[in-house]
Amino acid sequence: MSEQTLSNLMHEDRRFEPPAGLAADANVKEEAYARADSDREAFWASAAERLDWGQKWDQVLDWSNPPFAKWFVGGTINASVNCVDRHVDAGNGDKVALHWIGEPEDDTRDITYAQLKDEVSKAANALTGLGVQKGDRVAIYMPMIPEVVVAMLACARIGAPHTVVFGGFSADALASRITDCGAKVVITADGGYRRGAPSALKPAVDEAVTKLEDDELASKVLVVRRTGQDVDWDDDRDVWWHEAVDNASADHEPELHDAEHPLFVMYTSGSTGKPKGILHTTGGYLTGTSFTHWEVFDLKDDDVYWCTADVGWITGHSYMVYGPLANGATQVMFEGTPEKGRWWQIVQDYKVTLFYTAPTAIRTFMKQGREIPDAYDMSSLRLLGSVGEPINPEAYVWYREVIGGDRCPVVDTWWQTETGQIMISPLPGVTAGKPGSAMKALPGIAADVVDDDAQSVGNGNGGYLVLKEPWPAMLRTLWGDDERFKDTYWSRWKGLYFAGDGAKLDDDGDIWLLGRVDDVMNVSGHRLSTTEIESALVSHPKVAEAAVVGAADETTGQAVCAFVILRDSAGDGGEDIVEELRKHVAKEIGAIAKPRQIMVVAELPKTRSGKIMRRLLKDVAEDREVGDVTTLADSTVMDLIKSKSSGSS
Ligand code: WTA
Repeated sequence: MSEQTLSNLMHEDRRFEPPAGLAADANVKEEAYARADSDREAFWASAAERLDWGQKWDQVLDWSNPPFAKWFVGGTINASVNCVDRHVDAGNGDKVALHWIGEPEDDTRDITYAQLKDEVSKAANALTGLGVQKGDRVAIYMPMIPEVVVAMLACARIGAPHTVVFGGFSADALASRITDCGAKVVITADGGYRRGAPSALKPAVDEAVTKLEDDELASKVLVVRRTGQDVDWDDDRDVWWHEAVDNASADHEPELHDAEHPLFVMYTSGSTGKPKGILHTTGGYLTGTSFTHWEVFDLKDDDVYWCTADVGWITGHSYMVYGPLANGATQVMFEGTPEKGRWWQIVQDYKVTLFYTAPTAIRTFMKQGREIPDAYDMSSLRLLGSVGEPINPEAYVWYREVIGGDRCPVVDTWWQTETGQIMISPLPGVTAGKPGSAMKALPGIAADVVDDDAQSVGNGNGGYLVLKEPWPAMLRTLWGDDERFKDTYWSRWKGLYFAGDGAKLDDDGDIWLLGRVDDVMNVSGHRLSTTEIESALVSHPKVAEAAVVGAADETTGQAVCAFVILRDSAGDGGEDIVEELRKHVAKEIGAIAKPRQIMVVAELPKTRSGKIMRRLLKDVAEDREVGDVTTLADSTVMDLIKSKSSGSS
């Protein structure tokens, strides 16, 4: 976002007060800010009290060895028991946990908490039967079907940390994640449905397995039959879910795990090539996600909540699986993608009250026109959430008016894979929302915007977003790499967590997020690393050098734009070179990383010390006047690139 747009934004003077009824009856009221400020640990301890513990903790927070935090030290807890058993024990076994809606119309299943408990128990027994023990890692590569939730909770139950790999990632990406975290078992499906047709998953697992160097890795693959398509089968390795799980006992005595027992590893793009394995542990993560889910969405007993995220991302983990289920919520889970009126049909049919999605989706619907949502009765909605990228004021207002009938507050929630829980957001019963601002840190969270010297910038100024105090769902480290954890997040300024985002404080001290300040792009709310895509391009035999930038895109926020230099031996690369390279990136990383645009160039703009000046390439990709070129080793390079780009697209 340019400074110009930003200053326009910050003169935004529309305000939306919370609806009176919601304000009067809100789960969390204004007093919470002061209460948390006066005793942060006591505040989080009371949030933890909402969960069922075995042994209570002796100490709320151990921060004696920063940046390695321990929360609820000495406490024991089981995440799966908190997400299922305790609701059944409280007499809510018949409450619907998941209204699951498959992509093919009429393919639906309602699953109650009692049924979920049985399924999770069976799956836990089946995993134990396959040799999975507490502490072993399990990779999950599945479509949006109920079994993915069952699989995650079964892993949590036996204390086997899961790593869910988004189904859109390639075999290579899956293999590298299995290797990095040492996953012994993989849970997958034959395929899932994408845009009306079955799309295979098992072949990617088969291919990933051939790339593994250690026989202990992925020694068993548990396969759900979803589409019924043909799959290759290895009798020693592959096991059908419907044989192993359906025949297992529904009695499973869960063990209580230490509050700091690893719950899962979620890989995310960093500013260097190799994805980072973000480690989350049990007690603090569950406290942070369940509390904020209840707080920010103002969850009530009879709400029907729907988060549209895929379970392969952190939003799916925190706000589709662990947060809502720990709170005993009824939710919608949809296998498909947003097509025309299908989402709004679901809102109407299931009387969805709380809805959580990403700005990219909202902008897409805006483009399609309001006639589509206007054809449905969405009067059940009472609150709307946004996550994943900055929401521009126009999209915010459209969302509020067209989807929310001008009565639902919009909560713009800022957080990250690393933070585990929502950190900055309006409180729906307290805050007068400003379109485009995530407003301020939630009670119990300490955020600030600082300059290069770690000084608060003060109201009216911009800088870097930092977090100043530990919080329960914070990442504990990067899997197997404590040094990289320290370097990445804690080394820039002593004692401050650096989020990688730029932000501004407006005159009222409210926070406006400005996007990443590192080499991470945000495409449709998905994090992609420029370096990772550059390495994928350079691994193609015809490519000598590559530079990737995220260029502003009206719908997806940012889009991947690549500049490549071909090897001499490749000549002009051939007619289909661009398509060939796009496919190559999809194969190496996944379809989401495919560049929107690839320009074949003769040179890249470099400084005298050889650093590529991505800023200038971004100017080209965004069709802007190219900025200051005086530090370039050869300033004519940009003229060459520009003449090239005006001829292509
Ligand atoms: C961006 C997704 C502006 C931000 C939960 C962050 C946002 C990255 C917002 C994390 C928001 C997320 N406003 N930007 N409300 N929410 N971001 O790890 O750049 O996939 O650092 O977690 O998304 O992406 P991640």
